Amino acid sequence: MNKKTVKDIDLKNKKVLVRCDFNVPMDEEKNITDNTRIVAALPTIKYLIEQNCRIILCSHLGRPKGEVNNKYSLEPVAKELSKLLGQEVLMAKDVIGEDAKKLSENLQPKQVMLLENVRFHREETDNDENFAKELASMAEVYVNDAFGTAHRAHASTAGVAKFLPAVSGFLIEKEINFLGDTLQNPQRPFVAILGGAKVSDKIGVIDSLLEKVDTLIIGGGMAYTFFKAQGYEVGNSICEIDKLDLAREAMQKAKDKGVKLVLPVDTKVGKEFKPDTESKVVKCTEIPADWEGFDIGTETIKLFAEEIKNAKTVIWNGPLGLFEFEQFAVGTNAIAQLLAQIDATTIIGGGDSAAAVEKAGLADKITHISTGGGASLEFLEGKKLPGIECLLDK
Ligand code: 3PG
Repeated sequence: MNKKTVKDIDLKNKKVLVRCDFNVPMDEEKNITDNTRIVAALPTIKYLIEQNCRIILCSHLGRPKGEVNNKYSLEPVAKELSKLLGQEVLMAKDVIGEDAKKLSENLQPKQVMLLENVRFHREETDNDENFAKELASMAEVYVNDAFGTAHRAHASTAGVAKFLPAVSGFLIEKEINFLGDTLQNPQRPFVAILGGAKVSDKIGVIDSLLEKVDTLIIGGGMAYTFFKAQGYEVGNSICEIDKLDLAREAMQKAKDKGVKLVLPVDTKVGKEFKPDTESKVVKCTEIPADWEGFDIGTETIKLFAEEIKNAKTVIWNGPLGLFEFEQFAVGTNAIAQLLAQIDATTIIGGGDSAAAVEKAGLADKITHISTGGGASLEFLEGKKLPGIECLLDK
């Protein structure tokens, strides 16, 4: 990575503002249902404690749209982090108000505090300069470790870097190593698996990966747009009629680049969008008019497996079916199992595919699971992420 990290500057005894992505899922009672992003922030926080820093953490949670709303308070995160760190994390009642300022002024070396949700201020998402300045005024150095939010040009993810020396934490460094360096110089064969509902969401990634991979596997809802583009009927399956040209262009580009593009050959269709709906497996060229494709079929799983099992590098983004419904999670789970078994560098590009791997209990068998959903997609597309661009060059 060409950006400075916490290892590249002297942080001893410094007061440090650290932007994390603590945007974690919670249930109705505000219990955290997946603490992956909090765990992922620990290496940087622990390193700063070792450096005798006074540590001010900040993050957003959800989209409170500039309003103070207890539903989006970061208090449960402070509790979870206290448990994980084995030391109390002080929770500020506000972001740049009296309480935050007082706590930060009295902070002792090795102490950790967490500001309230930065999105309680509209100025955060507006990337307001004065708000960024106020945040910066509490510290001497800025560390960005919020990879999941690095695609947002907000005050706490980018604006603040104008006022303080800005470096990355270990999580951003790790994400870039895997999503950037490993995929730039992959061990071959290099296979990409893309799923998810829409071609329009993924076309940038398809375009960029077609420059790099040997094989591109397409499944999930967007495969039906590819079928339609080839003139097949897709019944009630999700299909972007206005994106047929994009699908055709991608198929042509794959041909021109010598990339093997692999599409499903069969699909599990259901009568209705509900968990226990009647279902059957049909050929992709024979989807009945009033049925809807919800998963890849058995022959497709075999076909995809043939491509994946010899790969040396695999990147996977997007589920291959409606994995929230058990009977349509078969394809996604089969691919997750396969990735957990093969002798290759396996990278999951965040979002739903990361959730599927976690749900299947296979997370520790994958080389790298990105903590970014939108951020990892934008990074894979080759876009510059403002939260990384703003950091000091090496
Ligand atoms: C995410 O969960 O993708 C990040 O935390 C960014 O959240 P946002 O889409 O609300 O900016």
